[in-house]
Amino acid sequence: PVKACIFDLDGVIVDTAKYHYLAWRRLANELGFDFSEEDNERLKGVSRMDSLNILLEIGGVQLDEARKEELAKKKNEWYVELIAHMDDKEILAGTTQFLTELQKVGVKIALGSASKNAKTILKRIGLMEMFDVIIDGTDISKAKPDPEVFLLGAEALKVEPSACVVFEDAVSGVEAALSAGMRVVGVGSKETLYKANDVVSSLAEMTLDRLEK
Ligand code: BG6
Ligand code: MG
Repeated sequence: PVKACIFDLDGVIVDTAKYHYLAWRRLANELGFDFSEEDNERLKGVSRMDSLNILLEIGGVQLDEARKEELAKKKNEWYVELIAHMDDKEILAGTTQFLTELQKVGVKIALGSASKNAKTILKRIGLMEMFDVIIDGTDISKAKPDPEVFLLGAEALKVEPSACVVFEDAVSGVEAALSAGMRVVGVGSKETLYKANDVVSSLAEMTLDRLEK
């Protein structure tokens, strides 16, 4: 039986992927190029610096480390402005209900996010208290697809990886969960997340029954 569920944040619980995209796109435009939503898939799940490196590669731009730090900071300031106005209306369909069901049957709940803004967002949308454990970008040294974030979550919950199910919208996150030895439910499209054990288009499709299968 499943003892714990570990949720990614951006793109699973809230659609902050759109805000990340807006901020990265603004940065790209300032650097003199544009980038598509399709390119944006590659930025999902990975750390802020990794995202910047992928963006610069797409634009064919080379910069030194100091300049990169500056740009990452700037992007984050824009992103923080964009998320400052979030509230519980931005919680994605089915999330609160599914978390409540898990809680009722005693399945532990963790967050496993690459974002350093994860706690700010959870507070803004009022979901902080639903999580037994929160692992975010401030706790990890290796970004997805490395399994670190999910292994730290399982360890903190004292649940073995094989009894954990991860919910992920990013290809890098699905890979991270699989290398952690966990089962993974993709949230998004089957075509993109074909490596996942199961795929739903949103948490509204999740039930306790489906979780056990
Ligand atoms: C992930 C997002 O959850 O967090 C990535 O999918 C983002 O797109 C990463 O780059 C880091 O987030 P932050 O908020 O620390 O810049
Ligand atoms: Mg995500």
